[in-house]
Amino acid sequence: MKGLSASAVSDAVGAAGSVPRHIAIIMDGNGRWAKRRFLPRIAGHKAGAEAVRTVVRAARDFGVQALTLYAFSSENWRRSNEEVSDLMGLLRLYLRREIRELNSENVRLRTIGDLSGLGKDLVALAREGVEATKNNTGLNFVLALNYGSQDEIVRAMRDIATDVREGRLEPADIDAAAIEARLDTNDLPPLDLLIRTSGERRLSNFLLWQAAYAELLFVDTLWPDFDRKALADAIANFGIRERRFGGR
Ligand code: FPP
Repeated sequence: MKGLSASAVSDAVGAAGSVPRHIAIIMDGNGRWAKRRFLPRIAGHKAGAEAVRTVVRAARDFGVQALTLYAFSSENWRRSNEEVSDLMGLLRLYLRREIRELNSENVRLRTIGDLSGLGKDLVALAREGVEATKNNTGLNFVLALNYGSQDEIVRAMRDIATDVREGRLEPADIDAAAIEARLDTNDLPPLDLLIRTSGERRLSNFLLWQAAYAELLFVDTLWPDFDRKALADAIANFGIRERRFGGR
């Protein structure tokens, strides 16, 4: 759909069915993209950061309410020091360069994950971006940074335990809503579509609770090649699925 106006693409997507309110993506395949080109892994991550720019704009144009991207997982610390530092550098660069533009496009930046485990400068940049865009009413662009779903659930459980100990919550009142209210995603729309690129079929500790009723889409495209058309195709695929939510 390259070359088509934003509204024409939007119409094409709309015609195929409904647009998911919240899309999350496990951006996988940067390393393989680089390897196929005999390039260092960082070149794949740089190309991946370009794909992030493209896909954020496309999601905004298609009327998606929230887009959550798995930028750095709590397990990614196991990568080599060099790769971790390259990824952190790219995130810093991205935040420095993009905030103004995101703001001018009415995009609201958010984060999920345990920011306390990240470098101070990166946290400051992320917080600045969140603050600068907090009144925007368009796409919620959510960066998962030092995020792990089990860690998120553990943090929510600690919160609940504290509330019970201090008499603010009765054990009998702990239900799904009480847990959801304490997840990092508490004020985002329900997750409708979870995409993983590069042919792998795992959730890798990403949004496990939130994915309870999400449609899952695994595509072979490597993340740096995931573009506007790939997102439009994913949305069209979502539009033709019949969602059951445990009913018939
Ligand atoms: C997986 O590819 C991707 C990541 C570990 C991180 C995603 C990071 C980016 C897209 C770049 C920076 C992000 C932003 C928001 C600017 P992989 O290295 O696991 O690929 P492989 O499985 O082919 O080795």
